[in-house]
Amino acid sequence: MTQGPRNRPSPVGIVAVGNLKGGVGKSTLAVNLACWFGMKGAGARRHPVVLVDADAQGTALEWAASGLLPVDLIEAPLDEHTDHGAWHRLVSDARDQAGLVVIDLPPHWGPALTLALAIADLLVMPVTPSGADLRATQQALERLRSSREQRDGAPAAMLIPSKVDRRTAAGREIADVLAELGEPVGPSVAQRSAHVDAFTTGRWIGDWAPRSTAAAEIGALARHVREVLR
Ligand SMILES: Nc1ncnc2c1ncn2[C@@H]1O[C@H](COP(=O)(O)OP(=O)(O)O)[C@@H](O)[C@H]1O
Ligand SMILES: [Mg+2]
Repeated sequence: MTQGPRNRPSPVGIVAVGNLKGGVGKSTLAVNLACWFGMKGAGARRHPVVLVDADAQGTALEWAASGLLPVDLIEAPLDEHTDHGAWHRLVSDARDQAGLVVIDLPPHWGPALTLALAIADLLVMPVTPSGADLRATQQALERLRSSREQRDGAPAAMLIPSKVDRRTAAGREIADVLAELGEPVGPSVAQRSAHVDAFTTGRWIGDWAPRSTAAAEIGALARHVREVLR
């Protein structure tokens, strides 16, 4: 019997979702990715999924306060008060116990990026069609490449065109522009009001609007992530 995507066990690993900029869709992608892998009915062999809110702003925490997200949430902000060793242990313990860990990173690349690059198997970087975003992304990729020298080429990276509005020239061109940065570009996530409504109702997109294009785009992204982690 072939197994559909819903019956396969979740992958094992640590996925960090980050970008220097705020408001680019980091929390939206982190929460929805974690929930896609952690959703109920994913089969008896599924691993539980842990969502780590590493942003002191607490967007994922606020989202999960509904009690309606199919993930376990850990609050572990990365800021100037964070004990790096303790943070690292918390996340690696979660990976050992749960299997899949998704980290929602804060929008600054101090210790947060260093720690994420030291521990993640995959760095997912949402990038919106704006010049400022691209510069921030290039800076992060430079750090990524130097940290790969210490970790045998890890982590992998995936650039995601985020909040894309295809009515604009920048929206139509973003995937091509990102492709020139030299890292894999994953499937685009368009600007869709269903994402805002899902957050407002405390649900992930596959629960709020399962038949929507917004949910289908998250599914495509999650399958892409699963291919990289296997
Ligand atoms: N693909 C999208 N379509 C529409 N709105 C989005 C999308 N992604 C994020 N948003 C909205 O944009 C705002 C910022 O998103 P968020 O995921 O919190 O970004 P970040 O974590 O990078 O600060 C939120 O109001 C969120 O609902
Ligand atoms: Mg956020």
